Amino acid sequence: MNRTTFDPHTPFAATLLDRRSLSEDTALFSVLAEPAAVEPLARFLPGQFLQLSVPGAGEIPISPADLPSADGTLQLCVRRVGHVTEHLHRAEIGCKLGVRGPFGVGFPVEEMTGRPVLLLAGGLGIAPLRSLICYLLRQPERFGEITLMYGAKQPQLMLFREELSVLAAQGRLRLYLTVDFAPQQPTGDFSCAVGLLPELLQGFVFDAQRSYVAVCGPPPLYRCLMDELLGAGVAAERILLSLERRMRCGIGRCCHCALGQKLCCIDGPVFRLSELQRIPEAL
Ligand SMILES: Cc1cc2nc3c(=O)[nH]c(=O)nc-3n(C[C@H](O)[C@H](O)[C@H](O)COP(=O)(O)OP(=O)(O)OC[C@H]3O[C@@H](n4cnc5c(N)ncnc54)[C@H](O)[C@@H]3O)c2cc1C
Ligand code: FES
Repeated sequence: MNRTTFDPHTPFAATLLDRRSLSEDTALFSVLAEPAAVEPLARFLPGQFLQLSVPGAGEIPISPADLPSADGTLQLCVRRVGHVTEHLHRAEIGCKLGVRGPFGVGFPVEEMTGRPVLLLAGGLGIAPLRSLICYLLRQPERFGEITLMYGAKQPQLMLFREELSVLAAQGRLRLYLTVDFAPQQPTGDFSCAVGLLPELLQGFVFDAQRSYVAVCGPPPLYRCLMDELLGAGVAAERILLSLERRMRCGIGRCCHCALGQKLCCIDGPVFRLSELQRIPEAL
C-alpha cells in the first residue's frame, strides 16, 4: 500500500539503483525512494540527514551528498566501517532499502544569501558538504564566491576529485587540495599541497567579516581549525560545524546523541560554533 502521509518513525521503501566506487572503502550509492517520499525529500536542506535502513542489518544516519532529485533519487556517499555499512556495500543492485527523514538542522542557506562561503572538508566530511556545494552552485547569482579547501590522507582517498577539479577549471569554485602525506606514486594530472588542512588556512586571505564558513571532518580537525578561523576574524555565529554522534531514533526520543543539553539529531547535526562554545564536550 502506498503511503500518503509523513510518519517520522516509518521508513519509506527505497531501491538501490547503483553503486560507484570512490575509493577502496567508500562508494556513492544511488537510491530511489518510493513516490510518497518525494514531497518530504523535496524539503531537504544541505547538512540534514536521513536514517537509511538496510534490511537484516540495521539503520544508520547518512547525510545525502547531493540534493534529492525530482523523482526521489538520493546520492549517498558511504564509507564501509562496520556492520550496517558493510551490508550496504555488499547489497545487490535492485535490493530494497528504507529511508526516514530528512531530519535535523541543516546549513542556514537563507542567511548565507549574498555572502562568500568558505567550505573546509576533511576526509569523508566532503560528503555532506557536497550537497551544500550543489545547492550553492545551482543558484550562483544568489551567493558570493565559493571556496573549498579539502584535505585527505592520500591522493587516492580524495573523493569526488575529478568533478571538483572540473568545477574549479570552469571558475565555479576556488579549490585548494591538500594531502597529509606526499604521494608514493605519480598522480598524473593531479596536484595538491602536502600538509594538514589548518596549514592551508594559515595566511589564506578571505573576507572574514562577511564569509560563512562550513566545516565537516574528523573531530580533531575542528579543534585545530577553530583557532585559525576565530583568529582570522570570522564570528563564531558564522562558523558552521557538522557534527557526528551515534544515533538511534534520529528524532529526539532516545537521547543517544546528547551533547550537553542539546541533541545532535534535532538541534544539529549542523551547529554554529557560538552554540558549541558553551558545551565543552562538543568538540
Ligand atoms: C548526522 C550524521 C551523518 C552521517 N553521514 C554520513 C555519510 O554521509 N557517510 C558515511 O559514510 N557516514 C556518515 N555518518 C556515519 C555513519 O552513520 C556511521 O559510519 C554508521 O552509522 C556506522 O554504522 P555501522 O553499523 O557500519 O558501524 P558500527 O559497526 O556501528 O561501528 C563501526 C565503527 O564506527 C564507529 N561509528 C559508528 N557510528 C558512528 C558515528 N555516528 N560517529 C562516529 N563514529 C561512529 C563505531 O564507534 C565503530 O568504531 C553520519 C553520521 C551522522 C550522525
Ligand atoms: S538519536 Fe535519538 S535523540 Fe538523537
